[in-house]
Amino acid sequence: MSDVRDAGHELANQLSTVLALADLERRRAERGGGEAETFATIADCVRKAASSADVLSAGSRDLRYLRAAHGESEPLIKELEELCARDDIPLIDPSTARFLSVTVSAMLASSILELGTAYGYSALTMARAQPEAGRIWTIDPDRERTAIARSFFERAGVADRIEIIEQPALDVLPKLAQRQYDIVFIDALKEEYADYLRLTLPHLKRCGLVIVDNLLWHHRVAVPEADTDEESTKSIRRFNRAFLSHPDLNSAILPIGDGVGIGAKTR
Ligand SMILES: C[S@@+](CC[C@H](N)C(=O)[O-])C[C@H]1O[C@@H](n2cnc3c(N)ncnc32)[C@H](O)[C@@H]1O
Repeated sequence: MSDVRDAGHELANQLSTVLALADLERRRAERGGGEAETFATIADCVRKAASSADVLSAGSRDLRYLRAAHGESEPLIKELEELCARDDIPLIDPSTARFLSVTVSAMLASSILELGTAYGYSALTMARAQPEAGRIWTIDPDRERTAIARSFFERAGVADRIEIIEQPALDVLPKLAQRQYDIVFIDALKEEYADYLRLTLPHLKRCGLVIVDNLLWHHRVAVPEADTDEESTKSIRRFNRAFLSHPDLNSAILPIGDGVGIGAKTR
């Protein structure tokens, strides 16, 4: 994916240079001028843009291949994906869902705390990968959304294993019971990510994982910083710096979906 993103920026740069040079040449031609050197630069830009376009199409071909290789989601999950799309409800990317599922299975994660339930897509994904006795506590103050989530948990036969806490995370976390979670999954308000990390780390077991979604924040984080950036973007940038240098975590941000942070608690 990073190849594709780099190629996208390169392509945009080259095309804007081509357009600027073409405009210059048109004005020169109108005056009866023109230079071989400018045409050589234009040809060079076009060659570079064409090679970026090739990487772009290779990148989207890879994604198409992987989508087909993984196959269609099972009917209940597909219904949930379609409902989220219809109601414009945010949910993790399918590649992030696969990453979560495999991680939960590998860790035999029986105790998971989630911040941000929405319609329950990520919670359901993790519940299905947990051992039989596994439990999830998921927090979201939006009762209309959690009612839908609960109905899907019931239909999937996992409702008795998932406790939904319908309050703002920052009201709940200071009163959280000590459970030594295997995984904390953070996917609620971006401006509050730093507080979520501070308040949940004491409840994560040693060698447990904190997993954080949206650390590339829909391509807004990696572009040059500007005073006009939204507060959510500034918060994610600050969070990323703190997350990657946290003294209690061995952490990385992976280019999966919208950017997934993964940090193992080392002490
Ligand atoms: C990105 S969505 C979660 C998507 C979900 N993890 C999934 O993939 O299916 C973020 C959710 O955070 C919830 N939220 C908003 N404010 C919150 C708060 N203060 N505490 C916890 N959750 C909050 C929103 O209602 C929204 O449903």
